[in-house]
Amino acid sequence: MTSSGTAVISPAPVMSNVPDPSEPPQTRASGHRAPRILIIANQKGGVGKTTTAINLATALAAIGRRVLVIDLDPQGNASTGLGIPPSGRARGTYDLLIGEAGIAETIVRTAIPGLDVVPSTVDLAGAELDLIDMERREYRLREALQAAMPDYDFILVDCPPSLNLLTLNGLVAAQAVLVPLQCEFFALEGLTHLLKTIERVRHKLNPTLDLQGVVLTMADARNNLTNMVAADVRQFLGEKVYQTVIPRNVRVSEAPSHGKPVLLYDFRCAGSQAYIRLAREVLVREREEEHVA
Ligand SMILES: Nc1ncnc2c1ncn2[C@@H]1O[C@H](COP(=O)(O)OP(=O)(O)OP(=O)(O)O)[C@@H](O)[C@H]1O
Ligand SMILES: [Mg+2]
Repeated sequence: MTSSGTAVISPAPVMSNVPDPSEPPQTRASGHRAPRILIIANQKGGVGKTTTAINLATALAAIGRRVLVIDLDPQGNASTGLGIPPSGRARGTYDLLIGEAGIAETIVRTAIPGLDVVPSTVDLAGAELDLIDMERREYRLREALQAAMPDYDFILVDCPPSLNLLTLNGLVAAQAVLVPLQCEFFALEGLTHLLKTIERVRHKLNPTLDLQGVVLTMADARNNLTNMVAADVRQFLGEKVYQTVIPRNVRVSEAPSHGKPVLLYDFRCAGSQAYIRLAREVLVREREEEHVA
């Protein structure tokens, strides 16, 4: 454990008392609850960030939470995977970052009740260049969300596979980071690098940024490497690693080509069931966070 890694990690949560999914979302005394903003980040490509964003969002929506996904990746995989074709994306994250549209003008409804998305449009690929001369360029997403805080319980931000200015905007806007980690060689090195970045962001730009947790993805229990890496990561981060492990599952990889989260494509498959368990764990940690606050 590096000293920077330690500082990011708050006390381990108790993993009992999983909430009843039928329970309605809690509201603050005012009746208006500010959304919790979680960023799904890992600078490594293809580790399951988008799959986790889409399916965690769907699982949370399925148990009554109002969820907004922000597609902060020019690849636009979260938008496509939520069934929004490029022709259905008039405005999106780019317009939000540049200040050409407010959040309400960029939100697109999905087929899933309670789940909306701010899609990625082709312009997002050039956003970094456009942002570079702007004032407070790391705070653009945060300020766009605060200017008109929409009526959601959760905002999940899907990131590109890079620690660039787009991801930085996500880290500055978020309250906590959820890291999907594929059980493969070098996974811990990449994780250490990410934890250092989170620590730096915390120090300089977003003092309250926390680590929600690390989820092991695309795991194959018959593979020794999977089991070795999983054991190492658990030893390194303790209970910050969710109990839920997302298995490698062909239904999960098929679902995006149908423009559907796997939870809609095949609710019973092992991948869907794992994402439901992950949503429960996320809610438990969020509830504990609320009690601490
Ligand atoms: N549990 C799983 N089982 C099988 N395939 C999976 C699983 N999770 C993700 N995949 C597949 O692996 C590929 C990469 O996943 P995904 O796009 O979610 O990763 P990513 O981290 O968002 O990638 P990028 O860094 O390019 O944004 C996709 O083809 C996806 O369908
Ligand atoms: Mg992705």
